[in-house]
Parts: sequence; structure tokens; C-alpha cells
Amino acid sequence: MNTILLIGKTGQVGFELERALAPLGRLVAPDRTELDLTSADSIRQAVKSIQPDMIVNAGGFTIVDAAESDSELAMQLNGVAPGILAECAAETDALLIHYSTTFVFDGTKNTPYTEEDIPNPVNAYGRSKLAGERAVMAAGGKSLILRASWVYSDRRTNFVLAMLKLARAKSELKIVDDQIGAPTWARDYADATAELLANPTRLREAPGIYHLSAQSYCSRLQWAQRVIEGAKKSSGIATGWAELLPTTTALYPHPAPRPLYTATDNRKIELAFGMTMPAWDERVDAFIPTLSWR
Ligand SMILES: NC(=O)c1ccc[n+]([C@@H]2O[C@H](COP(=O)([O-])OP(=O)(O)OC[C@H]3O[C@@H](n4cnc5c(N)ncnc54)[C@H](OP(=O)(O)O)[C@@H]3O)[C@@H](O)[C@H]2O)c1
Repeated sequence: MNTILLIGKTGQVGFELERALAPLGRLVAPDRTELDLTSADSIRQAVKSIQPDMIVNAGGFTIVDAAESDSELAMQLNGVAPGILAECAAETDALLIHYSTTFVFDGTKNTPYTEEDIPNPVNAYGRSKLAGERAVMAAGGKSLILRASWVYSDRRTNFVLAMLKLARAKSELKIVDDQIGAPTWARDYADATAELLANPTRLREAPGIYHLSAQSYCSRLQWAQRVIEGAKKSSGIATGWAELLPTTTALYPHPAPRPLYTATDNRKIELAFGMTMPAWDERVDAFIPTLSWR
């Protein structure tokens, strides 16, 4: 039976992974007191004692704006720790799945990014994630880096939960219409990861970087519109929702600059492993009724 080490079980993707990976083997999911990504010793000791056949790293620093002021911690968690994990994995020939982000790109393209496109992050979060990708690749083991995009779930903070809250609290909401991406339910990342790990032999034959997002893409305004339409239906509450209005990123500055376009071309993972993801809008429709506020 394979032993799987899951890091980040309290996060959006990690929480879903704990459920999805459980049937695949002996799942060990330490919290940050048991495996602290800021400490090389803690990482090495945990891996040594657990002796995993597979490591899934869903831990990291994910608050994009906070990474500007806390860039050292972001770099430690996202840039340095993945390299140490990859070294540990390479030493014991364990398979590593590591999540990265489409925020490694500068967003100046207007067609979906492929794995061949050159990263050029525009903020500290993207720079830290790119450093992590490079450290994982440099370790030379059997690692898959899955570049994820706009993740949402029913926990922590994310765009969908923020929209639902704000849309009830305000009469008008201005949402940027010039940031394009593929909203992806954390549950779908977890299920896709489990599907991939069900065939570890195949994964070992084709390590590397893969784009993995929901099919198709939209603007943040279109995403918010879909969320609120779904919430109206699901809750049965037709009134008292904010009117959603378009704005631009230039008029709505954040501490961290955002890449405008981060849609991904997912053909590489489809060709390599037959992996396809559902469409973003269908999954938003499926997600909303799962919320307990209904
Ligand atoms: N969120 C997005 O929109 C998005 C988009 C693209 C890619 N990704 C990538 O997908 C992965 C998962 O993202 P997510 O949104 O699920 O993350 P998340 O919800 O922010 O969860 C982060 C996880 O990392 C853990 N963690 C933080 N500091 C730690 C430390 N020092 N030692 C050990 N664990 C620590 C957290 O534990 P605590 O509960 O103890 O804090 C939590 O379990 C990340 O690699 C992220 O970069 C995310």
C-alpha cells in the first residue's frame, strides 16, 4: 500500500485532497505544527519519519496582496520549501505533486498560456511560486507541477465567498471586467489529482509542468454574475442583491499588480494522461447549492 504525505490539509485544495486521496493508500496529513514549511529541518524530519511513496504539497502562502509586504515568508513557503520537499522526494524516489499558479505569467497574452510560454511574474506571490517551480525542477526527481488558476471553495477566503457576502451587504458592486481566467473549484483539483495518482507509473514516465484549470474562461465580472445568479436560484431570495457593474483593473488598484490574462491551454495534461476538467460555469452552478447559507 502506498503511503501518501499530504501537506496543507486545512487549505482550500488540501481539505478536498484529504477526502479524495484517502482511498489511494495510507494517507498521512500533518498540520503545520507537525510539518512546518518554514523549517527545512521540520520538512526533512517529517518526510524521514513518514517515508512517503507520494508527496502532495498543497501548502503555501496564497494571499497575493499580503505577499508584497511579507515577501520573505512567501518566498520561504512557496519558493524554498517546495525545493526541499523535492530533494527529499528525489532522495527516496517518491513522486511529488506540487501546485503552482498561472500568476507566474505576466498576463500580456490574449490566447491561453501553454507550458512553453515564458513565465514573467508581476508580483511577489508570482515570483515566489516561480522560484518554487524552479527549485522543484532542479531537484531532478519525479515531480509534477500543476499550475492552477483562480481557486474557490467553501473555506478560507476566496473570490466567490467574498462576492456572496458583498452582494448582500451592498446595493452596487464594481467588478473588474478585464481580468480573464478560469475559476476552478478546489474539489475539481483534488479529484483530478487523485485520478492522476491512481496511475503513478504513468506519472513517473512524464514528470514536468502541466496546466490544469477548468475548461473555458471568463472575466471576474462574468464569474461574479454566475455566482450571484446561482445564489439567487439556490437561496430562493430574488431581491436584496447588489447590482454588478463593470470596472477596470486600472481603476481598482491592489497592493499586488495582477496579470490581466491567465487563461490556460490544458492540452498537455490531456494528451499525457487523458485528464480533462469540467467547464468553469457548470462547476460554479454545481458549487453554489453546496453552501450551507442556502
Ligand atoms: N487560491 C488560489 O486562487 C490559487 C490559485 C492558483 C494556485 N494556487 C496554489 O494551490 C495551492 C493550494 O492553494 P489553496 O488556495 O488551497 O491554499 P490555502 O487555502 O491558502 O491553504 C494553504 C495551506 O498551507 C498551509 N500552511 C501555511 N503555512 C504553513 C507552514 N508554515 N507550514 C505548513 N503548512 C502551512 C495552511 O495551513 P494553516 O491552515 O495552518 O494556515 C493551509 O493548509 C497553493 O500552492 C497555491 O499557490 C492557489
